[in-house]
Amino acid sequence: MALAEGRLVAFPTETVYGLGADATSTEAVAHIFRVKGRPPDHPLIVHTASAEGLDRFAVDVPDGAHRLARAFWPGPLTIIVNRRVEPTDAGPPVADETVGGRGTVGLRVPDHPLALELLAEFAAIGSGAVAAPSANRFGAVSPTTADHVVDDLSHLPAELLDRVGVIDGGPCPVGVESTIIDLTGPRPELLRPGGISVVELAAVLGEDVIDGRGGERRASGMLAAHYAPRAEVGLVPAAELASVLDNLASDAGADTGVIAPFAVHHRPSWHLPADAAGYARQLYSALREADRRGVSRLLVVAPSRGSMVEAVVDRLSKAAVGSSRRRQ
Ligand code: TXA
Ligand code: MG
Repeated sequence: MALAEGRLVAFPTETVYGLGADATSTEAVAHIFRVKGRPPDHPLIVHTASAEGLDRFAVDVPDGAHRLARAFWPGPLTIIVNRRVEPTDAGPPVADETVGGRGTVGLRVPDHPLALELLAEFAAIGSGAVAAPSANRFGAVSPTTADHVVDDLSHLPAELLDRVGVIDGGPCPVGVESTIIDLTGPRPELLRPGGISVVELAAVLGEDVIDGRGGERRASGMLAAHYAPRAEVGLVPAAELASVLDNLASDAGADTGVIAPFAVHHRPSWHLPADAAGYARQLYSALREADRRGVSRLLVVAPSRGSMVEAVVDRLSKAAVGSSRRRQ
């Protein structure tokens, strides 16, 4: 099996495709950083087949972590807990390189049949812990289909490409990365909004979850600029879109794309679902398609209803910062 041999496997999850390697192997994890072009201090999420991963790879696990795991795993939630650094009878701990040398680890049980099958198979013959960032090149939009993964990998030199296998599970049903909650501080902190909302988390924890996105617990890797397409992204309020389009210089029209949760008389444009969960599912494909069409500017209207508004607005804001920074 590829993971047990130290190779990389790109696999589907319910959120986005991950680029997986044995999280307990320094060498295997080093290949992830090489393939992604990711800075080594950016910690990776560790995926396991079941919530037993919490006690196997973490220590001092708070009761809240177990409750969240029972409520939402398998599912789009990553829980940051204190990392176990000593081996157990079951095997070695997660490697230092996996977590960028941190004392904490992000754990998640993904809700996808092919991911769970891969993880269970690997648990039977290896560590069962799969470190997997999103399978895109560093800073780019996460892949939500196997074709996206193959597109991104095609830029690699052959000696790296030879180490990577791709499992095709079709489009990812959630479409944006998991919610990340940090339980290692005095209060639960949200580090990244996603498919599980803050309201749902707080209900299970029985306490408020504070927004840790600007805070010190935020990991490197949570840069404001991220998830960016090549096109320059500008967020536009729904009510202003028509006048912004009217004011486009006529020669700039075809060079400008529009993504909106309603139909727009403009070409090219992508009409995404009005509900934020449906919008999230299609967003990254639309961003990639816009790049393929070669538009240099994207006007994006965010969705305004549904439990995933926060997650979508978070990604769109990062795409806007990322694309403008690239232009500097
Ligand atoms: O939905 C997902 O979470 C996807 C799929 C493949 O599971 N994975 C994903 O991984 O989005 P990645 O590497 O693209 O994003 C991981 C994020 C980074 O922003 C990183 O900083 C944060 O998780 N992270 C991981 N471990 C952490 C830790 N110990 N403390 C703080 N943040 C952590
Ligand atoms: Mg990523």
